[in-house]
Amino acid sequence: MMPTSDSGQHSGWADYPGEVWDERKPIGWLYDWPFWAECATNYANKLPILELACGNGRITRQLALAGYTVVAVDINPHFLSRATAQIRTLPDDMGIRVEFYLQDMVHLKLGRQFALALMADWAFPALLNQADQLSFLRRLADHLIPNGYFVFDTIFPGVRELGLTPGIEGECLEWSGTGRTFNPISQIETLISGGQVMQYRHTSLSEIRLLAEMTGFEVAECFGGTDRRPLRGMPGDDLTVVLRKKIKRYD
Ligand SMILES: C[S@@+](CC[C@H](N)C(=O)[O-])C[C@H]1O[C@@H](n2cnc3c(N)ncnc32)[C@H](O)[C@@H]1O
Repeated sequence: MMPTSDSGQHSGWADYPGEVWDERKPIGWLYDWPFWAECATNYANKLPILELACGNGRITRQLALAGYTVVAVDINPHFLSRATAQIRTLPDDMGIRVEFYLQDMVHLKLGRQFALALMADWAFPALLNQADQLSFLRRLADHLIPNGYFVFDTIFPGVRELGLTPGIEGECLEWSGTGRTFNPISQIETLISGGQVMQYRHTSLSEIRLLAEMTGFEVAECFGGTDRRPLRGMPGDDLTVVLRKKIKRYD
C-alpha cells in the first residue's frame, strides 16, 4: 500500500473527483504553459523531467508534446487515470515518453535523479505542516542532481491569510459568506470544493526560504506569478519560486 503522510490523508486531494477537477482545470487551460516550457528549456538539461502533483496531466501532456520524457507523480488515482488516458490519445509515432506514479510526494521514491522537477498550480499548500514540507523537500533533494532545479507556483499569503486580522471569537476566522475558514495558528484554510473538505496551508516566502535552506536548496529566483511579474505582494500575486539544489547538503 502507498505510504500516506498526514498531509496526504487530510488535504482532501487524494479522493477529489476527477470529473470535477477536469471542469475546474481543463486539459486545455494553459495560461501558465509558456513559463513551464521556458523552465524545461533552461533547466532540464535534456534529462527526463520530474513533474510533481501532475493532476489531470495538462502540463505533462504539453511537456510530452514538446518532446520531453516526463516522470509524473500524483496522490490521486482518478487524476492519474485521466492523465494516462490523455497521453494514450497521442499518436504512437510521436515517440511520447511518460511514466505515471501514484505516490505521496512526502514519501517520494523513484530511485533516480533529475535536473528539473516542477510543480504547477498551487500543489505546495497541500503540505499541511512543516514536518511534511521538510520531508518532501528532503526526498526531492535526493531526486535531483547537484545544481538541479525545483520550480513551483504557490499561493502568496496575503495579510488576511497570515492571520493578522484580529479574530472576534477565537482563532478560526470565517471569511464572510464564503464558507471558508482560516486558522492563524496552523496557517490552514479550510473550504469545501468538489464535495470534499479541502485544506491548504499558507506558507510565507520567508518560511519557504528557511525550509529551502534547511533541505539543501537556495532560492535562485522568485516571481509574483508564472507570467514572471516582479513579486511585490500585490493582490493577485502568486509565489513562483525557483529553487536550486546546493552541491553540499545541510540537514
Ligand atoms: C491544484 S492541483 C494542481 C494539479 C496540476 N499540477 C496542474 O497544474 O493542473 C494540486 C495537485 O496536487 C496533488 N497532490 C496533493 N497532495 C499531494 C501529495 N501529497 N502527493 C502527490 N500529489 C499531491 C493533487 O492530487 C492535485 O493533482
